[in-house]
Amino acid sequence: MEKDLEERELAETDYRTLVDVPQEVRDRLPASFDIIGDVAIIRLDDDMVDLAPKVGEALKRTFPRLRTVALDRGVKGELRVRDLEVIAGEPRTETVHTEYGIRLLIDPAKVYFNPRLSNERRRIASLVRDGEKVVDMFAGVGPFSIMIAKHARPEIIYAMDLNHDAIEYMRENIRMNKVTNVLPIEGDSRQLVFEVPCADRIIMNLPHSAREFFHDALTRLKLGGIIHFYTICEREDIEPILERLVTEAAGMGVLIAVLRQEELKTYSPSMSVFSADIGLVDWC
Ligand SMILES: C[S@@+](CC[C@H](N)C(=O)[O-])C[C@H]1O[C@@H](n2cnc3c(N)ncnc32)[C@H](O)[C@@H]1O
Repeated sequence: MEKDLEERELAETDYRTLVDVPQEVRDRLPASFDIIGDVAIIRLDDDMVDLAPKVGEALKRTFPRLRTVALDRGVKGELRVRDLEVIAGEPRTETVHTEYGIRLLIDPAKVYFNPRLSNERRRIASLVRDGEKVVDMFAGVGPFSIMIAKHARPEIIYAMDLNHDAIEYMRENIRMNKVTNVLPIEGDSRQLVFEVPCADRIIMNLPHSAREFFHDALTRLKLGGIIHFYTICEREDIEPILERLVTEAAGMGVLIAVLRQEELKTYSPSMSVFSADIGLVDWC
């Protein structure tokens, strides 16, 4: 069939072309940013912060479904919360984010959430066997726990977090996703991990300091169980870090093995976030 089609402007997919600045400045604008629900979160170098409103408007025009664009001034403190400033759109950051069939109510200005880990969360959920006891030591608003509850059949998931807001959002997310076997527990997982039964699987998604919690977690893992360990380090340091965990575990009288490791994402020019599945193989 032959048909005359109406001419249409090609939709812009690179927001940078819509920012009205000299080319050398445009070249320094970040190519990537995070989208959580209908909120975009972008980082700018200190000397480019004045351009934030122009960047916000350009992002909104490029992605019309965005309602808010926020400037990320960095992740702070133990609770890993981002310092956000709305630079375009509605003056709010609370939103509903969807990944692999689960819906999560999140305010990224109050709780930590990383949308780039969705594949990793789905992978972990696919490993969980029927009837497992799972501990999610740094659960945030519950993305790992709810993904597991939705896609697998564990007996129970103890989902811990220090951040009161994260626990409140998690309770809401449990309701929204109609899952029944996630138990939110507010507090320091260093102590809480000793107050719940030993686990088949422990998730340690606190990449800046999970190493400090590893030995306590290991004492709470069943034989044959797995720890999902996340860490940020220089790329050449990951092997020595994992080897040290194995040696230190041997000192505690247990044999552990790194079953799988993966570089999940770049953190800085020389550093990355790594995940490692670490199995408790035997008592020495
Ligand atoms: C990197 S975030 C991960 C959140 C979540 N797993 C996700 O994927 O979105 C780490 C979380 O650990 C929590 N946290 C930090 N120290 C903690 C501690 N000692 N005990 C329990 N939670 C802690 C923070 O409040 C934060 O929500």
